[in-house]
Amino acid sequence: MNVLLVRDVRVVDALGEWRGDVAIQDGVFAALGRGFSWPGALVLEGEGRTLLPAFVDLHAHFRDPGFPEKEDLLTGSWAAAHGGFTAVSVMANTLPPCDSPEVARYVREKAQALGLVEVYPVGAVTQGLSGQKLADLRALAPLVWAFSDDGKGVERTDLMLEAMRLAAALGKRVLVHPEFSGVERALGEELMVARDLYLARLTGARLHLQHLSSPGSVELVRKAKAEGVPATAEVTPHHLCLAQEVYGDYPVNPPLPREPARRALVEALKTGVFDAVATDHAPHTPENKAQGAPGISGIETAFPLLYTRLVREGVITLAELSRWLSLGPATIMGLRKGLVRVGYDGDCVLVEEDENFLLDETFFFSKGKNTPLLGMRLFGRIWATIHRGEVIYLEGLLRGRDYDDHRQVVRKG
Ligand code: DOR
Repeated sequence: MNVLLVRDVRVVDALGEWRGDVAIQDGVFAALGRGFSWPGALVLEGEGRTLLPAFVDLHAHFRDPGFPEKEDLLTGSWAAAHGGFTAVSVMANTLPPCDSPEVARYVREKAQALGLVEVYPVGAVTQGLSGQKLADLRALAPLVWAFSDDGKGVERTDLMLEAMRLAAALGKRVLVHPEFSGVERALGEELMVARDLYLARLTGARLHLQHLSSPGSVELVRKAKAEGVPATAEVTPHHLCLAQEVYGDYPVNPPLPREPARRALVEALKTGVFDAVATDHAPHTPENKAQGAPGISGIETAFPLLYTRLVREGVITLAELSRWLSLGPATIMGLRKGLVRVGYDGDCVLVEEDENFLLDETFFFSKGKNTPLLGMRLFGRIWATIHRGEVIYLEGLLRGRDYDDHRQVVRKG
């Protein structure tokens, strides 16, 4: 019997808050209460810490296969664990792209062998992400949880219609990077959101809109959801927290919003337009970045940034943040995660809310240090990350890198 006990901790999830002990047995939350003593259990002291369900990322780039100088499945998994994430959906813009069962299988098997976090590949919509010919969605379906050409929008309506019909028949979600080339960025986003909401209504396909940044597309989603269109949407931590007026035009796609648009995104979050906050973790080398490659290495800073800027400032509550970082994305992916409830996967993070640190490059386990946040003071340090009852990250130490078995770093109760 394998039991991990977190003792005397403040517990917060999307449904509420309480204080007590949390026991994880054989990978699932087994008992929640007070004053437990469990012979043989490993014990983590919760006093002064907050336990949240671990985070689930709908949108990350782990660059494997193809770009090991930017990231690979090992360093991406380290970064996820350090950031408090135990399940990550990784995009198809690798080399080769994830447009074949071979690549999807490689990603799944390599991540599984690492045994740190759960990595769920997304299959490409079009062959080679070319936007010209559909990938073999039927062959990919058993290996991926959704389809997306993220990094590019699928501009051809005939292909998107066919992809949505097929995805509906296969029971898979289509994730949309809403961007039409050749028109102003915000207009391109809105046009694709409008088109794909229309196609979702027509086909019944479950649609998920990625990294929305324009208040216009937010209103389209709000209206479509009210009409019952099967659509969900995400927003990134950087679009919620960083305005162009302060952070300039740090290259990221879509670009950082201006302050009024940023406020509109926060308002949309609070009023139910967004189902999840997703990191769009996009690591690049300094050389790529110097050449203008868009993206922010964000999976490790997501929680501290959102906590510092939105929770500590009183804009949202920690329970709300938990909904958008855990329950919302877990529900979209169909995972039994995202709540601290008996029977759910024993995935959680222990956070030190008042611990603050100055962000510098040494903070990152990701190969990508590309972020406009360097030099910022952040609160809400992740102290430990637990995946199915195993401590995979503890105070700067990572399982597989610094220790093999969590019993080496956690004391017996
Ligand atoms: O900034 C971005 N970087 N946005 C995307 O959609 C793609 C990503 C990347 O792959 O670097």
